[in-house]
Parts: sequence; C-alpha cells; structure tokens
Amino acid sequence: MKILVTGGTGFLGSHTVVELLNKENEVVIIDNFSNSKKEVLEKIKQITNKNFLFYEGDIRDKVLLKKIFTENKIETVIHFAGYKAVGESVTAPLKYYDNNLISTIYLLEAMKEANCKNIVFSSSATVYGKPKTLPIKEDFPLHTTNPYGTTKKMIEEILKDFSKANPDFSITILRYFNPIGAHPSGLIGENPNGVPNNLMPYIIKVATKELEYLNIFGNDYDTKDKTGVRDFIHVVDLAKGHSKACEKIEKGVHIYNLGSGKGYSVLELVSIFEKVTKIKIPYKIKKRREGDIAACYADPTLAYKKLNWKAEKSIEDMCKDAYLYAKKNK
Ligand code: NAD
Ligand code: UD1
Repeated sequence: MKILVTGGTGFLGSHTVVELLNKENEVVIIDNFSNSKKEVLEKIKQITNKNFLFYEGDIRDKVLLKKIFTENKIETVIHFAGYKAVGESVTAPLKYYDNNLISTIYLLEAMKEANCKNIVFSSSATVYGKPKTLPIKEDFPLHTTNPYGTTKKMIEEILKDFSKANPDFSITILRYFNPIGAHPSGLIGENPNGVPNNLMPYIIKVATKELEYLNIFGNDYDTKDKTGVRDFIHVVDLAKGHSKACEKIEKGVHIYNLGSGKGYSVLELVSIFEKVTKIKIPYKIKKRREGDIAACYADPTLAYKKLNWKAEKSIEDMCKDAYLYAKKNK
C-alpha cells in the first residue's frame, strides 16, 4: 500500500513509518520540521534498511499537496502533522486553530481531488476531558478544557460531517492515551525542545542530570497513592496500531482508543523507572497542575475486536527504551 504520512518525522510519525516500512508498504512523508529534525530521515533508513519519499514543506501549502498527490498514487493518508503543546495552545490559540484545522481541511480537499479515500487521524484522549467513570470507552461524552484539545474535537466533527457528504471515504480516528518510550534501537524517540511539559520526558531530563528533580503535581488525588494515574502506551505499540488501522479499510467514521487499558500512577512510573535504569529520580511534591484530572485509562477492547490490535510492551520496556534513546542522543 502507498501511504502518505503527514508529520512523519515527529515522535509518533517516525515510529509509525518504521512499522509501515517493515510491513512492506511504500511510504511518502511530508513534514516542515517545525517540531522535528532532518536527521530522523536517516535514522529511519538505518533502522529499516528501506527507502521512502520525503517532501519538505507545510501541508497548508495547497500547491505542494497537489504535487504530492499528482506524483504519487496515494491510497491512504495517516495525518499526524499538527501542534500538540497544551500550555502553548492556551497562550497562542490561533496558531493551534490555524495549523491543526486548516491543514486537515486542505488535506481532505487534496485527497478528494486525487480520489484518495482513506484517512487515519491522530486524535487524543484529551477529548474525553474528565470522565465520569473508568475505563474510558469510545462512546463517552466529549469535553475539552484547552484549545489544543478543542482542535482535536473540532477535527473529529469536521471528519464526521465530511463523511456524511462523502460516504465512500474510510475515516479512522485514533484516540491516543499517553504514548512514551522509544524505538528499542535507541535511534528515534521523543526529544522535546526546552523544559518538558510531559512526565516521561521530564523524568528523562532528571535521569540525565539536565534537571535537578521532578515536580510531582499533586499528591491529594483520589487514586491508589494519591498521585495522578495515566494509561502509558509504548510508542512502538501505538505505531503498530496505525499499521493495523491502515489494513482495515471500512467506509464511514470509525473511532478507536489506543491505550494499554492499565493505569499507573506518577509515583509508580518513577519507581519502575528507577528500578529499570538504577538511577534515582529525586522529586518534590507540588500543587496540582491546572487542568489535570485524577485518573485516565482506556478501555481498548474495541481496537482489539475490530483491528486485532492490543498493546504488548510493558511499562518496564517503556522506561528502558526511553532512557536508551536519551543516553544515545544526549
Ligand atoms: P510531533 O510534534 O513530534 O510530530 C508532529 C510532526 O508534524 C512534527 O514533525 C512537525 O514538524 C510536523 N508538522 C506540524 N505541523 C505541520 C504542518 N503544518 N505541515 C507539515 N508538518 C507539520 O508530535 P507527535 O507526538 O508525534 O504527535 C503526532 C500527532 O499525534 C499530533 O497530531 C498530536 O496532536 C497527536 N497526539 C500526540 C500525543 C502524544 O502524546 N505525543 C497524544 C495524543 C495525540
Ligand atoms: C498531556 C496533555 C494531553 C495530551 C497528553 C499526551 C496536559 C494537561 N494534557 O496529558 O492533552 O493528550 O499529554 O501525552 O498537558 N506530571 C507531573 N510532573 C511533570 C509532568 C507531569 O507530576 O513534570 C503528572 C501530571 O500531573 C499527570 C501525569 O504526570 O498526572 C501525566 O502528565 P503528562 O505526561 O503531562 O500527560 P497528561 O497530562 O496525561
């Protein structure tokens, strides 16, 4: 299958490209490197020993999009490209609405014109807001608390409306829980600019002594050890979920949670990381982070039933691989 991957040099995109190439798909990537580095292209080749096509540019560039669809007979698009920093989306909402919404609209237009009818879209568990019960199922009500989350919810709505008008399209929406870890080769992984916002990248910076200690946001939640609980999923498992989603082409809109179904607390993750890496992670308890919820984990059974996919890697694998990548890329 010939697959266009938007944002294919990013954290999730690069791991997915590796899985797609391993499954003998032809891959075309478009990325503008707004949040990734050129060297990822070489690393993907090193891991897979396979070639792919790359276009440098922005998917809001209609001319470039047309060129890609004209030069390649794309069968499926996986749409990762977009901005994802929750905090920044609060201070610069227009930047988020512009990139995330406009890029998706232009992409759908270009796909329609080129008669390419399959799309897999990166959504997020953030669209569930604060769930009333756990685990979270796909039919739970949606509620967002920040512009980033709202872009995801709005794109889901756009895709549903688009599907009504274009019933021959196959649209898969994947709602990711908390992807962490890295490729076991240590060649690709997550490398945020500046001080990280998310837990695992922050733990890594403490492990590599770039930061002194971890701030744990809140130890007064109604959870097993009073710290936040999340559904961490290994990025390679997540990438495999995309490969499965591309194999299942079904008209209409299909929504799946991609999570492990298990909840680990912040303190549990810290202690497993310490055990796996034998590095002490000093921490200080701070007040709750605004907008955080106590616990969030998926019911991933629909993805298992329909896509024959489930997360297989352990939380230890996630810690080991994330740290290996950090060591190799310090
Ligand atoms: P990332 O920032 O590492 O990757 C996104 C890639 O898209 C980057 O390489 C960036 O350069 C590129 N890009 C952004 N805007 C572009 C544009 N207009 N044109 C071309 N390229 C563009 O992010 P990620 O962690 O790989 O996430 C991928 C997708 O999954 C995003 O849509 C994100 O919102 C979503 N998501 C991520 C997480 C997570 O925890 N990482 C969780 C839920 C959902
Ligand atoms: C965050 C985003 C969410 C996005 C997801 C992707 C916010 C509010 N939400 O989710 O929209 O889809 O990333 O992975 O940013 N924590 C600490 N110390 C830290 C960092 C985090 O204690 O330095 C805690 C948090 O309070 C939370 C848990 O660790 O309980 C996980 O946090 P994080 O990794 O930021 O992910 P989410 O908040 O779940």
